[in-house]
Amino acid sequence: MVNSNAQPGDRDSLNGLGQWDDFIEEQVYPEPHARAREDYRNYTAPPRDGIREFYRQNHHFQTYDLVQQKRREFLGLHRRKMSVLESLNFLNTLIDDSDPDIELDQLQHLLQTAEAIRADGHEEWFVLTGLLHDLGKVLCLFGEPQWAVTGDTFPVGCQFSDRIVYSELFDQNPDAADSRYNHPLGVYEAGCGLRNVLLSWGHDEYCYHVFKNHLPEAGLCMIRYHSFYAWHREGEYDYLCDDHDREMLTWVQQFNEYDLYSKLPEPPDWKQLQPYYMGLIEKHFPAMLDF
Ligand SMILES: [Fe+2]
Ligand SMILES: [Fe+2]
Repeated sequence: MVNSNAQPGDRDSLNGLGQWDDFIEEQVYPEPHARAREDYRNYTAPPRDGIREFYRQNHHFQTYDLVQQKRREFLGLHRRKMSVLESLNFLNTLIDDSDPDIELDQLQHLLQTAEAIRADGHEEWFVLTGLLHDLGKVLCLFGEPQWAVTGDTFPVGCQFSDRIVYSELFDQNPDAADSRYNHPLGVYEAGCGLRNVLLSWGHDEYCYHVFKNHLPEAGLCMIRYHSFYAWHREGEYDYLCDDHDREMLTWVQQFNEYDLYSKLPEPPDWKQLQPYYMGLIEKHFPAMLDF
């Protein structure tokens, strides 16, 4: 069924989501515990042209001003009220209209992540974090282009690290030539804490705000920083962190293992698992959430 709130262009913005996830997993971070591939940033012949184009737009448009504008636009959470189940279905329903494989990727990815966390005996909040961490991709359904929803995130308002994916494409970003922003600290103070740093706009920050009163701090940091690879994978931007961030970093890194590498031999069956997850959701979340 196609959701009546679907917007023209949604199909395009969602089509690449699975493509993006596959790229990250297969091409950038193929080995657990390994750094990003050295050839990543000099990638002259990417396997999928769409990925470089995605980053051309992302690195061009994600400026300090843009992020502030998106935060004003979306963090009021006044678009719709949905239960957690509705939001999962909302993300999924529209994808029915584009590509069945992408649908499978999205729901299966969330379930695989959650089930892998559960199989390792972690607490309920951690399992739920796995199930919900990409729900912010509903931004695509609100008409947002893919470059403003997915992909690695990075701080704006200060210098772009050359350990960020496709960092050479920041040449096109006006902030790279702006003296207010193009030095290591930019608008920030050393050790100010990541909570005071604006990251490029995407599904992580949005999802964090949807769930910020309903999960423990470690789960919230997993959601908020899971695409911030320059930090949790590459070790950059420590100078902006405080001790709390460094404590949370271990959680974010632990989560990343499940996010990237949880491919169970038997694909989880949503119908069979739904009663378990509905029980968890009812126990931990209010009936309706603001999106
Ligand atoms: Fe994600
Ligand atoms: Fe994910």
